[in-house]
Amino acid sequence: MSVWIEVRVADRHDEARDIASFLLEKTDGGPLPAWTPGAHVDVRAPGGLVRQYSLCGPAGSVDQYQIGVLRDADGRGGSRAMHDRIAVGDRLEISRPRNLFELQAQENALLFAGGIGVTPILAMAEHLARKGDVFAMHYCTRSADRAAFAERLTAPALAGKVAFHHDDDPRTCMNIDALLAAMPRVGTHIYVCGPDGFMNHVLDAASRAGWPESQVHFERFSAPVAEPGTTGGFEIAIADSERVIPVGEDQTVIEALSAAGIEIPVSCEQGICGTCVTKIVDGLPDHRDMFLSDAEKAANDCFTPCCSRALTPRLTIRI
Ligand code: FES
Repeated sequence: MSVWIEVRVADRHDEARDIASFLLEKTDGGPLPAWTPGAHVDVRAPGGLVRQYSLCGPAGSVDQYQIGVLRDADGRGGSRAMHDRIAVGDRLEISRPRNLFELQAQENALLFAGGIGVTPILAMAEHLARKGDVFAMHYCTRSADRAAFAERLTAPALAGKVAFHHDDDPRTCMNIDALLAAMPRVGTHIYVCGPDGFMNHVLDAASRAGWPESQVHFERFSAPVAEPGTTGGFEIAIADSERVIPVGEDQTVIEALSAAGIEIPVSCEQGICGTCVTKIVDGLPDHRDMFLSDAEKAANDCFTPCCSRALTPRLTIRI
């Protein structure tokens, strides 16, 4: 379960069309927990909605966290609440940072950001530049006025490292196949964050070019709508115990376990973040998440109980 930290909005700034950044500091004035580039926090938005936002301030800063929020008119309301209802001085609750999108030890890094996916990628780029590491960043937006954090991305520290690509300007078009072909595959890691279409464009190209899965890292914002279920209800057995918990057709595994007094930590509850990954010792899961790799799904030894279900009448899990 999240331990919530109370923060105050120290500043907010319009970074680009529909994108605002928020500077958050602890209400008691103390330092915030340490973090590394790629980390995100849960933010409890007005109305109680919990959303994940990547930290995008100077890497490691513990005086203040910075998050960037895209106002999604068609979203579930969390980003609209942040944009429309949060002002300087307001209080919010956030979780400790969690990093499921860590930079690896590498010789080269290729960073790809689409739209609001710039937030973790910006923190990575500034961190790599400060270390003097070899990297290049490509930032794709629909138009120039949607490119956030332009001042930082064009600062001398990142000179020559960042290329901007805008859909409405064919002169800036990104040729992903050519970019990948120009990089040595050995020692180069790829990092991708952005909307689904953008992510799939980059990930498919990396796969076509034969990039090993272990060198391709990505973080998604939202899960696609799940396919219709392949099963109705099923049972969850707890390994090394006598406990068997029925999971109803309209219930998630997390909900069924919680009703039985068993709490598994969750965050996104959409199969994106990996917080709830749980070991399976028997039975076959029906993987519905976007977090586990194809290889991890094929191994069938863990699953995400926030959204995944079962292909067998019973799944035995270890908690
Ligand atoms: S809570 Fe995020 S994947 Fe399950």
